[in-house]
Amino acid sequence: MLEQFKKDVDTGLSASPKYLSSKYFYDDIGSQIFQEIMAMPEYYLTDSEFEILSLQAKQIAEKVNFKKPFNIIELGAGDGYKTIKLLKNFKELGLEFTYIPVDISKKAIDILSEKVTKEIPEIKLKSHVGDYFNLLNNLPNNIPSLVLFLGSNIGNFKKEDAQSFLNLVQSHLNPNDKLLIGFDLQKNPIIIKNAYDDLHGITKAFNMNLLHRINKELGADFRLDKFDFYCHYNPISGEVKSYLVSLKKQDVHITSLNKTFSFDFNELIWTELSKKYSFNQIEELSMNTGFKLDYNFLDCKHYFTDSLWSK
Ligand code: AVI
Repeated sequence: MLEQFKKDVDTGLSASPKYLSSKYFYDDIGSQIFQEIMAMPEYYLTDSEFEILSLQAKQIAEKVNFKKPFNIIELGAGDGYKTIKLLKNFKELGLEFTYIPVDISKKAIDILSEKVTKEIPEIKLKSHVGDYFNLLNNLPNNIPSLVLFLGSNIGNFKKEDAQSFLNLVQSHLNPNDKLLIGFDLQKNPIIIKNAYDDLHGITKAFNMNLLHRINKELGADFRLDKFDFYCHYNPISGEVKSYLVSLKKQDVHITSLNKTFSFDFNELIWTELSKKYSFNQIEELSMNTGFKLDYNFLDCKHYFTDSLWSK
């Protein structure tokens, strides 16, 4: 884990232009900051998806249409805030299922499992710490599975990575399994810009934490006050791109790599892609990865969709 982080930091900071992967945002502090982002009124994604899972659980169950007990497998299960609502609604509809949240973080799974059992004591829960595909590899083919990949996580993948990830998910599913996947939709660019370029500075802190993490885990001497945050939404490509900006010409030494990296005045480090999709792009992605798009569940403002795909 640490070796991979080290290697990726080395590759990203040696590249031109420099980059670091947003997958490293989520240490304990980063996960806490992400909770704060999700609670910001400007970060509409959480409310929009919560509305879909709260108000349309019955319609989702009807479209999924499993006639017997099934598994609900959640990839990258997060804090469960939105999923618990869906699970509760499914229980109230009398559906029989086992909830299997999967995450590489044991801490995230422990917190989630405790929360889920507290809120839904009768739930059948089989949490799984580890790699998504290890679990998907061992799916029983006598029980259908509904796989959840919620929260616009797919938006943080570059086009080719989104395709190969979904191809891999597709190849691991049994013929009757379904995927419910969250996409943030293209909309008025000002709404999107405000969700990421927030005035509270929370998204800035989220990005800055990456430098703090490199300092702490790899023994670097990044001076956080010598970097700033910049993000930009391009409504033509549908991409929010986030960057750290070097506020001066400076050198940063990373002890565990035994290397010094030079930054120019105003040099950028690209940290994150948050892609916003059109309906055509969602349909195209489903087709290119061997899925069939069954239905797009939308919130009332049409900001977000949970898209139901079958094989
Ligand atoms: C986790 N992911 C879907 C978030 C997003 O919207 O791209 C991460 C995030 N980055 C800045 N704000 C939230």
